Amino acid sequence: MKILVATEKPFAKKAVDGIRSIAEEAGHTLALLEKYTDKAQLLEAVADADALIVRSDKVTAEVIAAARNLKIVVRAGAGYDNVDLAAATARGIVVMNTPGQNSNAVAELALAMMIFMSRNRFTPGTGSELQGKTLGIHAYGNVGRLVGRKGKALGMNVVAFDPFITDVAVFAADGVEPVSSVEELYRRSDFLSLHIPATAETRGSIGYDRLMSMPKGATLVNTARKEVIDEEGLARALAEREDLKYVTDIAAAMQAELDERFGKRVFATPKKMGAETAEANVNAGLAAARQIAEFFATGCTRFQVNK
Ligand code: 3PG
Repeated sequence: MKILVATEKPFAKKAVDGIRSIAEEAGHTLALLEKYTDKAQLLEAVADADALIVRSDKVTAEVIAAARNLKIVVRAGAGYDNVDLAAATARGIVVMNTPGQNSNAVAELALAMMIFMSRNRFTPGTGSELQGKTLGIHAYGNVGRLVGRKGKALGMNVVAFDPFITDVAVFAADGVEPVSSVEELYRRSDFLSLHIPATAETRGSIGYDRLMSMPKGATLVNTARKEVIDEEGLARALAEREDLKYVTDIAAAMQAELDERFGKRVFATPKKMGAETAEANVNAGLAAARQIAEFFATGCTRFQVNK
């Protein structure tokens, strides 16, 4: 089988080498399309691929239609909002993610962003500390849990909200306090770390009301997806409350305007870098390769997201 790794934002070499070894040891061939700049390159490269490994690369209905032999797509990472699941399912193509594999890198970045913002973006002047502040975690999945544990280690009071976790023992195990409503979470959080996926329900769900309810001097930290933010509402809240801050790993569509209007109170990384560590690349990339090898060898569909 031909496995194509199509990554506009390439994996570290060590990860690519590992993916190649797994593929070839299982009797498959590996093709690489890295740093592509045009959708046409992806459409051409997928034409004869049996399996596809991507990161945030857009696997649209057009890409799926062009991939005539495609049987499996693995998103090497957590969020699979970049894959057209309906188009894949209609063709009987299995779509998987690699949950948890890049979580530590994202969690470390979330904490780093909190320190960066509370230390005046590393410019001269008096900053503040994380210790003793309340850290709210919106969605307690793989990344949220790691952020919670690291926040505890830094002496923060950690509270979390996740409507899908009913077992309070999950929070108790980390010394984290579960709160019963999303309203309470935002009302209490000096730092609010977002870990919700981009879905029909969450798109544009974080905006004016949530921000306005946050304590004085609060910072919203987004290492999740830009789509979950209601950007107009965010801008309105930042304009009305000069104490609020927004830091994101996924630049807003209106980031240039936010930067111009709110200066040092907002910051966006130039390109999403949450999962950009050699360790995360190796973890997620090799997991993707193993999942594909196992799928072809045994039909295993563990981690399938379009069942
Ligand atoms: C994920 O969903 O796993 C992260 O957002 C990482 O995305 P990336 O692989 O494009 O860096």
